[in-house]
Amino acid sequence: MPAEIIDGRQIAASIRKEVRQEVKSFVKKTGVTPRLVVLLVGDDPASHVYVRQKSLAAEKVGILEETRNLSDATTEAELLRIIHELNRDASVHGILVQMPLPAQISPTRVIESLDYRKDVDGFHPHNVGLAAIGSPLMEPCTPTGVLEILARTGNAPDGKHVVIVGRSNIVGKPLMNMLVQKTARANATVTVCHTGTSDIGEYTRRGDIVIAAAGRAELIKGDMLRPGSVVIDVGVNRVDDPSDERGYRLGGDVEFESAKEVARAITPVPGGVGPLTVALLMRNTLTAAQNLVG
Ligand code: GUN
Repeated sequence: MPAEIIDGRQIAASIRKEVRQEVKSFVKKTGVTPRLVVLLVGDDPASHVYVRQKSLAAEKVGILEETRNLSDATTEAELLRIIHELNRDASVHGILVQMPLPAQISPTRVIESLDYRKDVDGFHPHNVGLAAIGSPLMEPCTPTGVLEILARTGNAPDGKHVVIVGRSNIVGKPLMNMLVQKTARANATVTVCHTGTSDIGEYTRRGDIVIAAAGRAELIKGDMLRPGSVVIDVGVNRVDDPSDERGYRLGGDVEFESAKEVARAITPVPGGVGPLTVALLMRNTLTAAQNLVG
């Protein structure tokens, strides 16, 4: 039987609904509206699309959002000066610097310059450390989205073997840290595969849950999965497709057609994890406002 296709857009809509309600009661209680500032440096077309999605989501939940478009030639010193100003501005609760940044700017120095309480991406080393020791303040949006999908589709990782493919700082490693915690939403046995793993299939075939976050199109095929497993595809890759008017389509790290014949449930790309990332950014902005006001 083909797999259940998990509808990430629907799950994201329920989270936005919850956040909208909470924003409403926060505003009522404090008189303060949560505010997010997005810094977008340069003209990367994909970044512009992502930032637009964030802006639309903010509007839907009642969060004030402002995108500042900065030139491709912005220096690191200029960007740091803007961040310091936003750090000091009590009316700003969340700051997001869209990645990637132009080559003249160090992403590490930029992330470290953020007030960690306003770091709605959860990328600051302080937040990474708190998550690793099981005391999270601001959790990264995409890994949290994966946990929300699992929890809200009846696929809790508790007691399961989760195989993560990918060790990035924004998905693979934070997921590893979150999934091993002794909490109701996690408590999994975790294996992490990466480019140094000689036979990835040997591990993914032993996973009750497989999370693909390697950034390599169709790396995970159906024959690399255990029948009845749950597959979460975090990848967003451009795949050449002459039949599409753009000349490409978006595809994940999982070969969807073969995987859906083996898995019990699977997330599509697009329409799987992506919408959750944006919804959880809204939740983090609300959390930041709750932590900072009062
Ligand atoms: N670029 C791609 N994904 C992300 C993300 O989650 N946050 C930021 N800031 N930039 C990104």
